[in-house]
Amino acid sequence: MQKRAFVTGVTGQDGAYLTRLLVKLGYFVVGLVRCTSDYYPEGRLRLLELRDYMAQGQFVLELGNLLSPTSLHHILEKYKPQMLFNLAAFTHVQFAEQMPEEVQATNHYGAVNLLQAMLNVCPACYMYQALTSELFGKADLSQYPVQNEDTPFTPAGVYGKSKYDAYCAMRMFRADPHFRAKVVCGILFNHESEIRGVQFVTRKITRAVAMILAGLQECIELGNVDAVRDWGYAPDYVWAMHAMVERARKTGELRDYVIGTGEHRSVRELVQTAFRVAYPTAKMVWEGDDATGRCTENTVLRVDGAVRVRINPRFFRPKEVPYLCCDPTRAIQELDWNPRQTSFEEMIRRMVEHDIALVSASA
Ligand code: GDD
Repeated sequence: MQKRAFVTGVTGQDGAYLTRLLVKLGYFVVGLVRCTSDYYPEGRLRLLELRDYMAQGQFVLELGNLLSPTSLHHILEKYKPQMLFNLAAFTHVQFAEQMPEEVQATNHYGAVNLLQAMLNVCPACYMYQALTSELFGKADLSQYPVQNEDTPFTPAGVYGKSKYDAYCAMRMFRADPHFRAKVVCGILFNHESEIRGVQFVTRKITRAVAMILAGLQECIELGNVDAVRDWGYAPDYVWAMHAMVERARKTGELRDYVIGTGEHRSVRELVQTAFRVAYPTAKMVWEGDDATGRCTENTVLRVDGAVRVRINPRFFRPKEVPYLCCDPTRAIQELDWNPRQTSFEEMIRRMVEHDIALVSASA
């Protein structure tokens, strides 16, 4: 019989890539979509390349909400999937600070609702819960220069805290002999792609570079360009999500994994890599940094003399996590995860070229 998977957050970046992967692996995928006045997100599905799967009977959308246990019960009863992937979440770290109740409800209570629905309706199922490297927000970097499964969780803000609470709940249901929930958690570092939302710094930059190249924008306004992240390619990361669940299913061992490349770069390096795709021979110079080389409100990047990046304090984060870098050893050894499948440079090149094509198509 065909395997069935239920994916929440299916119209987001990770949900779309995971659905494509699962369909290729022979799954029938049921995606959860929230009720809006435009319930059937035709344009979005086309953009995510999911519409054809629907037409071919490999993928369906079901209306529901993580905050409506009734809808979750109904969908699980109807399809009786073998695997659940909970990717739906409020994911923007800075915006999360402005609406803590919604973030906590979706990211924490929503995850618990789904797990409880699974335990009631299909307790033999395996569930994947998406966590985040923001769990390491306040890590002592002198002790934990790279973060792995043994690094203590010290979330810095509303978003990290909501995911931490979801993690505690998953662990509790997993350990409780009454439930023995088959749930595994993926602690994913930043992962990006051509379909990343434009409010995240990678896509904000690659889209702006395309606009600047087309003469439609002068300059990019950014916050802390000294922030350091471990940025990987989202299609590679969804492979790891499935591998985690498959391993749990085959071995019976419920293990959580950090997923990242093990390489770190600053937002400055990201900016330069993106401009380098569009302006291969340009001279790039940063000006206005303080004496220690950190950015200030006066920092700018000149590309062939023209100011192309400015700092706007609006994008500074009071609870900024300045540095994150993954130690993916366990995933390499146990999941056969290849952290360098798509290099950072290759990912940024694809994103910039994709945005250049989008800008020229809409011109
Ligand atoms: N968004 C944004 N916009 N970030 C900026 C900007 C800007 O103009 N300027 C500098 N940054 C810095 C942020 O302060 C942060 O340090 C870094 O760029 C990355 O920001 P985002 O791309 O917004 O991602 P994030 O690290 O906050 O969170 C993402 O990764 C997490 C995994 O660690 C999200 O995808 C989370 O949902 C995910 O869990």
